[in-house]
Amino acid sequence: SPEPVELRTDVLVVGAGVAGMTAALEAARTGRVVLATKTSLGDGSTHYAQGGIAAATGAADVPVHVADTLAAGAGLSSPAAVRALCAAGPAAVRVLAERGVDFDRGRSGGWALGLEAAHTTSRILHAGGDRTGAAISQALAAAVRRSDAAVHEDAFLVGLLTEHGRVVGAEFLEGVEHPHLLRVRADAVVLATGGAGQLYSRTTNPVVATADGLAAAFRAGALVADLEFFQFHPTVAAVADPFLVSEAVRGEGAVLLDAAGHRFMPAVDPRAELAPRDVVARAIGTAMAEHGGAPVLLDATGVSGALGRTFAQRFPGIAQLCARAGIDPETTPVPVTPAAHYWMGGVRTDAAGRTSLPGLWAAGEVACSGVHGANRLASNSLLEALVIGGAVVADIARGGTAAGFEDEVVDVAEPALPVAAHVGRRDVQATLWEHAGLVRDEAGLAVATKLLTPQEDPVEIRPDDLGVPRGAREDSNLVLAAHLLVAAATRREESLGAHFRGDHPRTPDRPTRRSFRRTP
Ligand code: SIN
Repeated sequence: SPEPVELRTDVLVVGAGVAGMTAALEAARTGRVVLATKTSLGDGSTHYAQGGIAAATGAADVPVHVADTLAAGAGLSSPAAVRALCAAGPAAVRVLAERGVDFDRGRSGGWALGLEAAHTTSRILHAGGDRTGAAISQALAAAVRRSDAAVHEDAFLVGLLTEHGRVVGAEFLEGVEHPHLLRVRADAVVLATGGAGQLYSRTTNPVVATADGLAAAFRAGALVADLEFFQFHPTVAAVADPFLVSEAVRGEGAVLLDAAGHRFMPAVDPRAELAPRDVVARAIGTAMAEHGGAPVLLDATGVSGALGRTFAQRFPGIAQLCARAGIDPETTPVPVTPAAHYWMGGVRTDAAGRTSLPGLWAAGEVACSGVHGANRLASNSLLEALVIGGAVVADIARGGTAAGFEDEVVDVAEPALPVAAHVGRRDVQATLWEHAGLVRDEAGLAVATKLLTPQEDPVEIRPDDLGVPRGAREDSNLVLAAHLLVAAATRREESLGAHFRGDHPRTPDRPTRRSFRRTP
C-alpha cells in the first residue's frame, strides 16, 4: 500500500465552506496554510444558502440585530458572543464584497436588503437573487486558488493528532480510488467541516454533511455542546428531488396553507409566517398530522404583484428548481414540509473560535460558539462562519490557547478511535426523524437510544486502514453524533427553541448549556 505523505504547516484548515475558506485566506496572509477538504473547494452547505447573509445596516442597527438574535436563541445564546458577531457584521460583508461577491443592489444603488423570520428589519444581503451561497462560495474559492494556501481536495478527515492533550495536526485519507494517508502536523488546527444534516431522512444539507469534524473533535477529547438543538427549516419542497424554498419567499409575502387550503399561521403566532423557524416548523408538522401527513402549501402567487417583479426575477434559483419539478410558483402553491437544516450544537468554542483543547479552533456550523442558542436566527450562519472564520486566525496570531467554559459537563464513555457502525445509515436517519425531530418525548428517545447502542463489542477502524471505504467512516461518525444528540435530547426535560419535548412542554426561565466530553 502507498506510503503515508507527511506535511508540516503553520495552520491547518479542515473544510472549505465560507468558514474554512475565510480562515485559509486570512492565515495565508502571514504564514503557511494547508486547506484540506472532503471533496472540492466550496463543498458543504455554504453553496446552497439562498436567503443571504444577515448584517446590521448601520451602527444603529447593531443593537437591534443583537436583540433579534438573542430573542431567536430563546435565552441560551451567549450575549457577549452575539454582540461581537453583530458588531463585526458590516465590516465582514464589506470584505466579502472586496473578495468579489457582487451583492444585489436596489433601485437607489445601495445594497438590496431582504427580510426573513424573526428579523425586525430588512437586513439580509443577497447575491444573484437567491443564489447567495453559490456567489460567496465561488468568489472565495477563486480567492483561495489565487492565494498561497496549499489546497488538498478529496482529503477525508480520519482523526486529529494529539500529544499530551494538545492537538498537533490531523490525518486524512487523500484520493478517492486509491487513497493514501496524509498526515499534516500544524501549530494550529481549524475545524470548519460543517454540519450533519445526513443524520435525518429529510434534510436541506448536501451528502457531505456527516459530522466528520464533530466526531473527530469529540474523540480527541474536546467538549461538544447544545447537541439537542437541531434546526428544521419549515419549507422544503415536497417533490422527488427536494430543495429549499427560502424563508425570504415568506419575507416577500408568501403564506402557508394546509392541505385543505386554509391559512393556519396567524392563529398560531402573531408573527404568522414570519414567526421563528421552530414555531413555523412545528405548526407545519401539526397541520400535516391533521391532514394525514399531506404536505402544506407555500402560496407565493401574490409575491410578484407585491414586488412589481416576477417571482423568477427575485428568486431565479428557486424558480428554476420549481420548473424542474413541474411547478410554476406564480400560479401554483408549492407543496412543502420541514427538513433538518442547521445544527446549533457542535464543538464548544468561544467567540474567537477557541475550543477546550489547546491547538484546536473551530468555526462555522461544526462549532457551537453560543451565538445561535437554542434556535439560529435566519441568515446568521453565513455571518458567523465569516466572522469567526476570521477571528480564529487573529486569535492564533495572538498566541491564543484553549478556552475554559462554565457549562455543566457530562462525561460519556466512547472509544477514542472510530468504530464500525452497527446500524445502517437509513435506519439512523429514519429513527432520528421520527424520534429526535420536530417533537421528542422520553419513549421515542428511548427507542432511538436502543437502536444506537451497540449490543456487541465495537470493531475499531484504524486511521491508516486504507481498505475501509469513506461511506463506512461517515456512518461511524453519524452513529456517534446521533448517539450524542439523542443523549442530549433525553437529558433536557424541558422545551426550548428547536428542542421541543411533547412530554415536557415547559420552557425554563433560565436555561443552562450542557456539554459532553469523552471519558478519558
Ligand atoms: C433560507 O433562505 O430560508 C435559509 C436561510 C438560513 O438558513 O439562514
